[in-house]
Amino acid sequence: MYEKIFEKYSPDKENLIYILHDIQDSDPQNYVSEDAVQKVSEFLRIPISHIYGVLTFYTMYSTKPRGKNVIRLCESPPCFLKGSEKILMQLCEILNVKVGETTEDGFFTVELCACLGICGNAPAMMINEDVYGDLTDEKLIKIINDIKRRA
Ligand code: FES
Repeated sequence: MYEKIFEKYSPDKENLIYILHDIQDSDPQNYVSEDAVQKVSEFLRIPISHIYGVLTFYTMYSTKPRGKNVIRLCESPPCFLKGSEKILMQLCEILNVKVGETTEDGFFTVELCACLGICGNAPAMMINEDVYGDLTDEKLIKIINDIKRRA
């Protein structure tokens, strides 16, 4: 199952974060499973504990199944000062979830994250690989509806 990913890399532990990225991106539930960790450990010949250390250090990784679309709202101070708290409340209300939860249809997971690097456009969020700034209630609804429509 992970052979195609392993073929792209030499069995070097420097490749760990890239391999974990590819595994997570290729998983329909957007996470790195126990089985994947085991296989990576065998491929790179590094301890499982080391891999979990990396997985828990970087917030972009998840060891739990998530929705098809992962929404990560920035909670750093510049975004907070520009109203990210209100955006978060609306997001959770629209999707009927709490932070860290996945919608019943498995379509969205809501998470918080640190600065996305576009503080000038705060408040900001990232959905999968796309970054959205200058969020307002209206813009948020439009983004969510557009993604649902594209599904
Ligand atoms: S603080 Fe939110 S994008 Fe930088």
